[in-house]
Amino acid sequence: MMLSGKAKLAGVMGWPVSHSRSPRLHGYWLAQYGIDGAYVPLAVAPENLKDALAALPKIGFRGCNLTIPHKEAALDYVNTIDETARVVGAINTVVVDDAGALRGSNTDIEGFAQNIRSTGHMLDASHPALVIGAGGAARAVIAALKSLGFTRAAIVNRTPERAKALAKDLAPLALTLDVHAWDRRSDLVKDASLVVNTTSLGMNGAPPLALDLAAARDDALVTDIVYAPLETPLLQAARARGLACVDGLGMLLHQARPGFRAWFGVDPEVTPALRAHVLKD
Ligand code: ATR
Repeated sequence: MMLSGKAKLAGVMGWPVSHSRSPRLHGYWLAQYGIDGAYVPLAVAPENLKDALAALPKIGFRGCNLTIPHKEAALDYVNTIDETARVVGAINTVVVDDAGALRGSNTDIEGFAQNIRSTGHMLDASHPALVIGAGGAARAVIAALKSLGFTRAAIVNRTPERAKALAKDLAPLALTLDVHAWDRRSDLVKDASLVVNTTSLGMNGAPPLALDLAAARDDALVTDIVYAPLETPLLQAARARGLACVDGLGMLLHQARPGFRAWFGVDPEVTPALRAHVLKD
């Protein structure tokens, strides 16, 4: 579709931004729905983030996504922040409202939940979720657990202080968060109905996550935030053990939907063709 003078504009701010798959993802939807709009990479250095966000309404942008390293810093530069994003301490989506104010939200949270729901797997949320890692991704995952029906999660992290700080910060979510030692992770698998790797272990170039799934519940679902490779060593092990699995790419695709809907006016679909398109990159 050719852009007209009325084209709707959005993009992704990151530093660097060249690794971002969001332009490819949103570009696919813009073409699929025949929308007069563009979604562009915006290379914004940290010291320019405040000015770049403030410029959005002035240059007619409808908003943007935020990626590394801007998700936390941007909290200070938007006008309103939704409640859960504030608790999580990060935003990844900014929408310019009709009055030109910037509204920040964190769609990674719902993106994670939607990816889990897309499996159709019946989670037994009376058993806890096991969350491995305590970084920014873990925070969004834990915030999503409530909407998946969980009341309790076990958290393990190599650096225990970080897991304790996370549990303290996320107290307003009203989930019971139990922090355990890193070397207990394989024991904790026994009771978990959902196992989530939020660390970078298993990513291309990184060592695999060592986790013994032998004693896992037969109805457990295993997922990984890592999506390069799509089939991480953790997911391979889970499949070999006969457990239900879902890879991390779906979270990336689903987190993009609320922004696209707000900027371009269509609730876009996550389809196998979209997955294939994003993976071809
Ligand atoms: P993100 O925002 O993607 O979550 P992050 O905040 O840098 O990134 O968090 C990375 C996570 O991977 C952390 O839980 C980190 O553990 P530490 O808090 O102990 O650093 C975890 N991680 C990274 N490399 C690891 C490794 N080699 N072994 C164990 N955990 C690792």
